[in-house]
Amino acid sequence: MRGKACKENWRFYKKPNLGFPALILSCSFFFIAGLFASNLLLSQGTSSDERWLRARARQLQSVEEEIISKYDLLPSGESGDDFITLIPFQVLSWRPRALYYPGFITAEQCQHIINMAKPSLQPSTLALRKGETAETTKGIRTSSGMFVFSSEDQAGVLQVIEEKIARATMIPSTHGEAFNVLRYEIGQKYDAHYDAFNPAEYGPQTSQRVATFLLYLSNFEEGGETTFPIENDENFEGYDAQKCNGLRVKPHQGDAILFYSIFPNNTIDPASLHASCHVIKGEKWVATKWIRDQVQV
Ligand SMILES: *[C@@H]1O[C@H](CO)[C@@H](O)[C@H](O)[C@H]1NC(C)=O
Repeated sequence: MRGKACKENWRFYKKPNLGFPALILSCSFFFIAGLFASNLLLSQGTSSDERWLRARARQLQSVEEEIISKYDLLPSGESGDDFITLIPFQVLSWRPRALYYPGFITAEQCQHIINMAKPSLQPSTLALRKGETAETTKGIRTSSGMFVFSSEDQAGVLQVIEEKIARATMIPSTHGEAFNVLRYEIGQKYDAHYDAFNPAEYGPQTSQRVATFLLYLSNFEEGGETTFPIENDENFEGYDAQKCNGLRVKPHQGDAILFYSIFPNNTIDPASLHASCHVIKGEKWVATKWIRDQVQV
């Protein structure tokens, strides 16, 4: 825009033939005026952070311009977008409410997260119920993992992904926990469990996990599926993780799965019980984003 102002000016000042110094002067004037105007614009309404994120979210649009141009845009509110977001998904199940997002992130973004996580992996831990100890729950979750906040990613990749997750779930990114990056090596698994915390088992909760967004960072050759119990099977707790039966999904690198642990009436969905089957061949990497009912500080 600033460049354009100077160009137009070029023509305008050429006629009176005021010479080079006038040209420099006028360009400098418009440059400074442009700088001032853009600062004014940025300080108006939303923060520059939000603007940056929206600009990045727009870059994420992998959809052809021609598809987007088929739609008429409406005026948006201050926090809204001035572009169309198309995120393809498949409904896997209504019980639990589970969705599949093929190609949600790129292979490069996957590799970036893996590289970031690798040096700080630790054996994964469990939230313990009353009476449970680390010893009695040994073997339930055998993966390694680490937590990373998007703000810790200098490259800004996690922030961009977080924004896309917020669009897919329509829950602001402020409701998300840090990313939990996990690696499952051969033989490693996670037995059937809930992501939500039942107060009857875990005691009173100050906030609850509403939904889980799972990013699949690697292709794994055999095993490692994510499973949910068979629909209409009421005996969820008797679910046999060894057999790994039920709704069994094996997404590819870059794909994502979203499922809700909480019904719209704020009770836990018994069908949101899920497991990660043993990896038989290859290495399974995932990044989990737990989304809560309250803003995380
Ligand atoms: C909440 O919603 C679920 C799913 O529709 C239903 O099965 C359950 O009975 C409801 N619970 C209460 C307490 O309303």
